[in-house]
Amino acid sequence: AAAEPIVVAIDGPAGSGKSSVSKQAARHLGFGYLDTGAAYRALAWHALERGVDTSDALAVLDAAGDFDYAISLDPDDYWVRVGAAEVTDAIREPRVSDAVSGVARVPAVREAVNAMFRALVASSGRPGVIVEGRDITTVVTPDAPVRILLTAAPEVRAARRSAEVATQDATAVADALHRRDAADAQVVDFLTAAPGVTVIDSTALDFEQTVDAVLNVVRAETGAQ
Ligand code: DC
Repeated sequence: AAAEPIVVAIDGPAGSGKSSVSKQAARHLGFGYLDTGAAYRALAWHALERGVDTSDALAVLDAAGDFDYAISLDPDDYWVRVGAAEVTDAIREPRVSDAVSGVARVPAVREAVNAMFRALVASSGRPGVIVEGRDITTVVTPDAPVRILLTAAPEVRAARRSAEVATQDATAVADALHRRDAADAQVVDFLTAAPGVTVIDSTALDFEQTVDAVLNVVRAETGAQ
């Protein structure tokens, strides 16, 4: 059997640059890239499509029962599907971002998606996978050889997020981000590094410097090139 892939676990809050940095680092390493937030977003999208009240845990669980989810681990060909629908862009819409914390709060949903994440990593066919989310270093793969918490000052995160969604009002974007942080923080603590987790603060770093900081940690801990 093929060797288990090297897991690089990266946690951090919204707007920390986690997704783009993880994707770029995965390209450099020849690793797969797994965006775990996409599963929660896709389930929120699926629930909204079915007219489910995403603050109702039982209704969310019911919607999770027929959730046919697929995601690409290729950093150069990223897509997300629910059934036959390609939802790669739809899951970034504000209505989904507003609903997703309600979905992520349901413990049985978390257990189900965590099992799926571990299976996706095991079957990736890559020498390693960068797995990015909120509870990867602590819950999903606490034994990963590389565990990183990527942080940035709240103002910087809000500014980066508004640059990403240039069509939306900057104050509204910052408000939505802080609301979501507050809701998410009730489910998992993604602002404190667990023991053994390396903190990278990207407040004063640009994109390439942040990617390099991640690559340096991966190379130091695993010998990967
Ligand atoms: O990283 P993101 O913004 O795409 O994440 C979407 C939501 O999913 C976010 O509100 C928190 C939740 N999430 C989580 O609870 N655990 C993870 N491992 C990843 C995301």
